[in-house]
Amino acid sequence: MTSPSEHMREALSLAKKGLLTTRPNPMVGCVITLDNKVIGRGWHQKAGEGHAEVNAIQNVFENLGSSAESALENSEMFVTLEPCSTTGRTPPCSESIKRYGIKKVYIASEDISQDGFAKKEKDIEIIEGLLRDEARALNRGFFSRLEKNRPFITAKMAVGLDGGIALNSGKSKWITSEISRKDVHKLRASNEAILTGTGTILKDNPSLTSRDSGYDINDVKQPLRVVIDRNNYLNGEENIFSSKAETLVFTTKHSKIKSKSSEICIMSKNDLADLNNIMSYLAEEKSINTLMVESGSILLDALLAQELIDELILYHAPKLLGKDRNTFSKFGQNNQKLSTIGFTIGDMENLGEDLKITLTPK
Ligand SMILES: NC(=O)c1ccc[n+]([C@@H]2O[C@H](COP(=O)([O-])OP(=O)(O)OC[C@H]3O[C@@H](n4cnc5c(N)ncnc54)[C@H](OP(=O)(O)O)[C@@H]3O)[C@@H](O)[C@H]2O)c1
Repeated sequence: MTSPSEHMREALSLAKKGLLTTRPNPMVGCVITLDNKVIGRGWHQKAGEGHAEVNAIQNVFENLGSSAESALENSEMFVTLEPCSTTGRTPPCSESIKRYGIKKVYIASEDISQDGFAKKEKDIEIIEGLLRDEARALNRGFFSRLEKNRPFITAKMAVGLDGGIALNSGKSKWITSEISRKDVHKLRASNEAILTGTGTILKDNPSLTSRDSGYDINDVKQPLRVVIDRNNYLNGEENIFSSKAETLVFTTKHSKIKSKSSEICIMSKNDLADLNNIMSYLAEEKSINTLMVESGSILLDALLAQELIDELILYHAPKLLGKDRNTFSKFGQNNQKLSTIGFTIGDMENLGEDLKITLTPK
């Protein structure tokens, strides 16, 4: 006998198929069972297209044909996010659930952007919170945007044994191995935007696109490249302005950048100093759920000081960079309020000769 948790776990696996394609919508999966056997499966594939519940109902019709309606009346639904009850680009899922007389619905995580399916539908038995933590973790970006008005922020840093992140001379561009760099491209593809500072642009001139990520190229949407240029240093010729992806520049005055794929957002110096303003702009104006930071230590320190890093991923290479190194963290110099910052170690993974460590600030 398959347990409700196992059915919900399958719904979560289905949801994950939408990792690259549902943005800015959440990933959602749905399983429909009759007498504990799965009769329909669905997931949300693309924003603006069918939701997981509707796709799973459709799948019941594909599987059972003329007996689908009577099967649905006696079925149970397992859905990873509270069904929508408002009309967006598609009709509300709550209507489909009621129309087909589904009597019992298991929901993993609530959705505060909806007006309370769980509270409103008195004729349906609703069981909330099954595998809630897993479901919230899956859509951590969506929940962050909704509940904190900012994206979920992941900082990436490649670092040597002596804390070196680059050579000041600009030599030795790669610290980590090819397999780690490939992993970074995967990380870029799974984030909706990448933030960096002018220090990195002027020293490394990166293009910050996702290439060779291992994902299906048709599914990869290039992340929005975001740079904070408070002193108008950039001239639009840098690789970050290539036409391969869009770029958003936060600056303080009218800019000389003329690139067609870029957009300029002007804010006062004071407003730019509070990085929360940038984060809420990305959430509200650009619907960005997930942001990756690929900057040097100056911008990263500022983000840490403002408690804006949710996760730090270190690619630790067995290499010493020596005296000419630029170091990972210098926060004492520009953030008096910080003395030390503690982290909790999550995952550790060997990537070739490097170690990938995922950390959460305490
Ligand atoms: N190992 C790695 O994974 C990795 C990744 C990226 C970069 N790097 C290395 O990092 C080095 C560059 O580091 P960096 O620290 O000089 O540059 P950075 O952190 O990339 O950029 C720093 C600049 O960001 C701007 N900025 C915008 N908002 C800010 C704020 N609220 N607080 C502080 N600064 C803000 C400032 O310039 P304005 O005042 O002009 O706006 C500042 O000078 C390069 O050598 C690069 O190779 C290494």
